[in-house]
Amino acid sequence: MSKKISIKDLKDYVGQEIQVSGWLYNKRSSGKLRFLILRDGSGYLQCVYFKGNVTPEVFELTDKIGQESSITVTGKVKEEPRSPGGYELDATEVTIIHETHDYPITPKEHGVEFLMDNRHLWLRSSRQVAIMKIRHRIVKAIRDFFDDRGFTLMDAPILTPAACEGTSTLFETEYFDLGKAYLTQSGQLYAEAGALALGKVYTFGPTFRAEKSKTRRHLTEFWMVEPEVAFSDLNDNMDLAEEFLEYIVQSVLKDRAEELKVLERDITKLQCVVRPLPRISYDEAVEILHKEGLPFEYGNDLGAADETVISSKFDKPVMVHRYPSEVKAFYMKRDPENPKLALAVDVLAPEGYGEIIGGSQREESLETLQERIKEHDLPMEAFEWYLDLRRFGSVPHSGFGLGLERTVAWICGLEHVRETIPFARMIYRNTP
Ligand code: 4AD
Ligand code: MG
Repeated sequence: MSKKISIKDLKDYVGQEIQVSGWLYNKRSSGKLRFLILRDGSGYLQCVYFKGNVTPEVFELTDKIGQESSITVTGKVKEEPRSPGGYELDATEVTIIHETHDYPITPKEHGVEFLMDNRHLWLRSSRQVAIMKIRHRIVKAIRDFFDDRGFTLMDAPILTPAACEGTSTLFETEYFDLGKAYLTQSGQLYAEAGALALGKVYTFGPTFRAEKSKTRRHLTEFWMVEPEVAFSDLNDNMDLAEEFLEYIVQSVLKDRAEELKVLERDITKLQCVVRPLPRISYDEAVEILHKEGLPFEYGNDLGAADETVISSKFDKPVMVHRYPSEVKAFYMKRDPENPKLALAVDVLAPEGYGEIIGGSQREESLETLQERIKEHDLPMEAFEWYLDLRRFGSVPHSGFGLGLERTVAWICGLEHVRETIPFARMIYRNTP
């Protein structure tokens, strides 16, 4: 019997007879030839059946098989530069594992809602496969980056006793006799405890925001990676963020060129993502908006449209630092040179993809942090453990959070974050 292989390994079997199992992606016919395009998750393979070379039964079967039937093909591997992947199968046999007809997703245009309803099947399309492979490569780059630099992965709990990023986007649930618990908005507070135990840590997991807005950047469940570093200030934090972004983008360019091609991504827009990245203050960002004639009011947070205008001035991600503390979270340290400003940094992706990173230096003084918790009307008891980090060996420390899905959307050049995660959760969708 011939050897069973994956499509990605075809190059090692030129001239040999092999078997591949997969799904029928597409088919064509021309006279005495039948072309079955097989996909197995590792790649695509054109299998050519010539009437004179196969039994009448096999030839008839190639006409009958429906799209997405699961099949095993047998044949000889041939180099074929014109074929996707560079190889072809001189096929002699086909056996059906499960015959399928009327597969709901056909090569014609379907509406997005239909495709999202059929997400479990839509994932099989070449575009979605390319996105998932790039997402995986980004996840690996994230882990490699921190692992290679002495960070310890320390995951944070998902059920938490209090808000971290504002009380307006909390998902709550009853927690036995202990009252309410909330799905985490960010692992940061726990990462801070980790940084004071291990020096450099990162959390990486799902986070939740009951976002009531329906935008192309918001999910209610998304993945965030959050490094946190002891003895690190805002500048160190920005140095880390820019090295991190360069590493992620260059890793994808190096290892996922084929997938970027499937997505028709203009890679010149990614090739330029190398250090240093531009750094501007919030004040300078506001100047840009005013020069463009936008009626932006100093002191407000930047909206999506403002971010797009600012990032359009740069061909790389731009770091905007020192926002008004009023629009930022309670834990951010104020700028000693201007206490109206927080030592915060947001990184805005180019091409209108908006904020992909939010971070800051943290307030390390116990008294100041207690004041902030009161100002923000947060329950002091729930934060006592967090305040302990300022009671026992407090140090300057900083960190940031990178949203995985927004990063995937930017690198892949996608319209909407719904395609960046296997099964998107949004205000109007929690299925399939
Ligand atoms: O700016 P955010 O809210 O920052 C934090 O949560 C901090 N605690 C992080 C830290 O300092 N450790 O969120 C960080 C990033 C955003 O820049 C964005 O990329 C992503 O998380 N994000 C979302 N992505 C998809 N859907 C949403 N609803 C998102 N909200 C935030
Ligand atoms: Mg933010």
